Amino acid sequence: MSEDLIIDCDTGSDDAIALLVGALHPGLNLIAITTVAGNCPVDVTTLNTLKVLESAEISGVPVYRGAEGPLVGPAIDRSPGWPQDLDLPEPSITAEPQHAVDFLVETLTSAETPITIAAVGPLTNLALAFRMRPGIVSKIGRLAIMGGGISVANISASAEANIFWDPEAADVVFRAGVPIELFPLDATHMAPVTSDDVARWAEAGTPAALTAAAFLPERIHMYESRMPVEGGGAPVHDALAVGALVDPDLVRFERANVEIELHGTLTRGRTVVDQRPHLFLASQPKNARVAVWADRQRFLDFLTEIFHAQESGDH
Ligand code: BDR
Ligand code: CA
Repeated sequence: MSEDLIIDCDTGSDDAIALLVGALHPGLNLIAITTVAGNCPVDVTTLNTLKVLESAEISGVPVYRGAEGPLVGPAIDRSPGWPQDLDLPEPSITAEPQHAVDFLVETLTSAETPITIAAVGPLTNLALAFRMRPGIVSKIGRLAIMGGGISVANISASAEANIFWDPEAADVVFRAGVPIELFPLDATHMAPVTSDDVARWAEAGTPAALTAAAFLPERIHMYESRMPVEGGGAPVHDALAVGALVDPDLVRFERANVEIELHGTLTRGRTVVDQRPHLFLASQPKNARVAVWADRQRFLDFLTEIFHAQESGDH
């Protein structure tokens, strides 16, 4: 029995790998994709999502365009120096007319069994949906979030990009009482993919492998030249979050309390991850399972199996 899944994303290149995992793994039933501004403006994240689906010959997965900017303050324009358009053919498919937030509210409200959500971009869509219809929280069986850091940051000295982009939205989501599985940079940086991995996948010649091979080299070059991680290559943060939904042994979890710093001059957008035992001063109930480690080789084998297994033709 595969798990019904909605992926909320700001497609970029690692979101793209997460979409391929969600669409192709037999243990997941990707029922829809919602897009949000983050890596790129929402028109670009939506177009990139459509490009990936068509290029990888994945059909029957509706895409809903979502929020244009964070709940509070101006959208952060990452375009100077941050990849925007994925180098894939223009798609013939289009997004659905319904707004992503309306789709989330309607679908979760009517769901008769719990739905899993993987949120791998800023959490704006989810926060808006929770504010529109708080009762939908009970319809979410699992919420995998790629975001934050215990002791690793990227977009600032304190914060990770998805959370930093909309801290107020993250605060709403982390206080909502949903069962959260958090995949912070500390774990995702342990499982980078290298050019050799991409070349091996491309040899499979499947539509998904060839799609990944179209944009991962640029991602790897960007990381190796500007943000090197141990072992070289580039982390595909979002794909680890979706993969761990069906293979929890990709990571090791610890329960912790995660709260979002909203006011610090130097720390706004930081995920404050309290791993202390509950009995210490000011410790709060633990609201998340946090991935503190990742098994790189297991993750690479996981992705290889997905890329090699895809038969050409629609999925
Ligand atoms: C997160 O930010 C984006 O650049 C990636 O898609 C990922 O979701 C990593 O900080
Ligand atoms: Ca993302």
